[in-house]
Amino acid sequence: MKKPMQFSHRWILVTGASSGLGKAIAIQLASKHQANLILVARRLEKLEELKHSLEENYSVQCKTIAADLSDINNIERMFRESIQNQEVYGVILNAGITYFGEHQQQPWDKFEQLLATNVRGIVKAVELYLPYLSEKSQEGSIMLVSSVAGLLPVPYQAAYSGSKAFITHYGLALNEELRGENVSLTVFSPGGIATEMTHSSGLAAQFEGSSLLQSPEQCAIEAIKAMESRQALYVPGWINRLQVFGARLLPRSLLIFSAGSIYRKALAAKRNSQKSPE
Ligand SMILES: NC(=O)c1ccc[n+]([C@@H]2O[C@H](COP(=O)([O-])OP(=O)(O)OC[C@H]3O[C@@H](n4cnc5c(N)ncnc54)[C@H](OP(=O)(O)O)[C@@H]3O)[C@@H](O)[C@H]2O)c1
Repeated sequence: MKKPMQFSHRWILVTGASSGLGKAIAIQLASKHQANLILVARRLEKLEELKHSLEENYSVQCKTIAADLSDINNIERMFRESIQNQEVYGVILNAGITYFGEHQQQPWDKFEQLLATNVRGIVKAVELYLPYLSEKSQEGSIMLVSSVAGLLPVPYQAAYSGSKAFITHYGLALNEELRGENVSLTVFSPGGIATEMTHSSGLAAQFEGSSLLQSPEQCAIEAIKAMESRQALYVPGWINRLQVFGARLLPRSLLIFSAGSIYRKALAAKRNSQKSPE
């Protein structure tokens, strides 16, 4: 039986730390667990700002790596740089992108970028960090940030939903392969979170103010608990858990139809707001 993780003074890598859930996870890990952090994303200025604030407020050490993780060479560079002067104990692969709209309207480039970021980059990072963590024999862990959209198909986010279904199945299958080994792997699957992602996709307008959107801070607390206790799969928030549980009881076609109706309405609202003058 693997022991719960102990983050204090250990190095944890967080991808997508420049905003949203990744940033909230980094703040929680530093403020409540005294973890040292390796912060990764494309926007270096945001990472540097976070690094200074965490070091100043919580007396932890932080490093930043600016990297576009849709490029496989950058995943290899992130791995090399992250293990250069410190021992990595935890890896949180949180960076991800989405879109909101009809699949047929999406340009091919966007689909390739989504697959490269949400799927290929994750598999490559796992391929590099898993043997490293196993060798270190200190019961480290990897957490993959997936989504409820990886458990239930979501129309108008078809490719995103598919990418998260890949991550969920991949992670859960891999977790079972790691039974008896010193390393654990957690799949963390949030529902809606109030972040840049939900705002820029236009999804937030429909769900703003409703209890369907979790705050990144609350979601981060649950993410860390799930990783700490080495859960195989964790869905934060009782509403999301109820949704996933309910989905097991209802016919799949009905679920997809209901999700489609809700998202179709949200898409119409997004279009109207884009049409109406300021
Ligand atoms: N928001 C939701 O409703 C929701 C629901 C379920 C699951 N999730 C998942 O939660 C994770 C975090 O999303 P969020 O809601 O916190 O969104 P967010 O605020 O948009 O954050 C996404 C993070 O990923 C980074 N990122 C995106 N593309 C990247 C790339 N090519 N290379 C490196 N970093 C990249 C972004 O940083 P830079 O732009 O600086 O690179 C940013 O830090 C994602 O995996 C998402 O799928 C979100």
